[in-house]
Amino acid sequence: MKSLTNKRVLLGVSAGIAAYKTPDLVRKLTELGAEVQIILSKNADQFVAPLSLQAVSGHAVHNYAMTAESESGMGHIDLARWADIVLIAPATANVMARLCQGNADELLTTVCVATEAPIAVAPAMNQQMWQNAASEANIATLESRGVHILGPDAGEQACGEVGPGRMLQPADIAARVASLFQNTQLTGKRIMITAGPTWEALDPVRGITNHSSGKMGYALAEAAIEAGAEVTLVSGPTYIAKPERANIVDVVSALDMHSAVMSTIDQQDIFIGVAAVADYRPVDSADQKIKKNADQMTITMVKNPDILADVASRDTPPFCVGFAAETNDVVEYARGKLEHKKLDLIAANHVGGSETGFGTTDNAITLISNDNAIELPRQHKSALARQLISEISKAFNEQS
Ligand code: C5P
Repeated sequence: MKSLTNKRVLLGVSAGIAAYKTPDLVRKLTELGAEVQIILSKNADQFVAPLSLQAVSGHAVHNYAMTAESESGMGHIDLARWADIVLIAPATANVMARLCQGNADELLTTVCVATEAPIAVAPAMNQQMWQNAASEANIATLESRGVHILGPDAGEQACGEVGPGRMLQPADIAARVASLFQNTQLTGKRIMITAGPTWEALDPVRGITNHSSGKMGYALAEAAIEAGAEVTLVSGPTYIAKPERANIVDVVSALDMHSAVMSTIDQQDIFIGVAAVADYRPVDSADQKIKKNADQMTITMVKNPDILADVASRDTPPFCVGFAAETNDVVEYARGKLEHKKLDLIAANHVGGSETGFGTTDNAITLISNDNAIELPRQHKSALARQLISEISKAFNEQS
């Protein structure tokens, strides 16, 4: 597998002379396996032909303006979500100053404010501009916010001067972008994740379910894909966008989820059970809608299979990770489940509050193994998912 396989690079081209090198940069990125979309900053089309970039990327190029027409296609939020990384090359002194300000004055800068993806810039400017105190302060600010600064190179410049400020060569930029993803140790590994609630039907229109939104499981699927894994996401009914690059298996009930998991579990390296599976299901599900004739109604329920425990007790189980959502004594209960279900890791989280857990945007987790417990503090579920996948892959690689 190539170093940028499955990776989506959103390339922002700002208006500097080095923009003429960007068709080659797109080529180098796609040769490493990346899919590339391009946003031109204002006036960048004076330095590179949009048609050349369209031809090499295979995508229509996004203009700087945010019009009703452009927003009705892939708008700024969709582009911000699409990207695994936003790369600005060349990055002029002006665009870096605007990034520092958090300006959202054209499509490229707006996407930078809206994205959760990492941002990398390849500065390109005259050596005096690069060494200007304002540019130095801006670079320091961007670095302190986690923006990756690629280069610049030193040497002869388009203006005839010699010094630092030349954009790195396209092949170097592509290699450095690839290296930003290389903390990902799951290349070529197969991961199955269950997510969302299950729905246990009482009749054709009613059922028993829970508040799980699927957000945590979906974020883990995205993070595992980012880490190079081939992901199968077995999902109960949810209302959130499906990760595009996962193999999605939609299920409804716990029994459906159980058989979907078991059908390909022998091909998986890692299994992560995030789904909030109903513990019980009604013994009978009526074929017709139940009428409200009686004053009382009793529903007899039977226990559902424990999918995670069944996976973990196979003769040659995959590396198994469970989730324990608890309202009290979280770590203690989670440790009990780790032992009882014979898991490799369990992610314990506190539910019931309004800020973390079911349906929320943020989460906080204690990741527990037989001999360790790691606190992953409260943060957005996608950031937390990246940390979790990194910890899971470390533990998986140590074991195998
Ligand atoms: O025992 P408890 O339901 O608290 O365990 C939670 C963990 O077990 C979660 O990882 C959940 O996905 C998994 N589970 C399962 N099948 C069930 C119940 C829970 O896979 N029937």
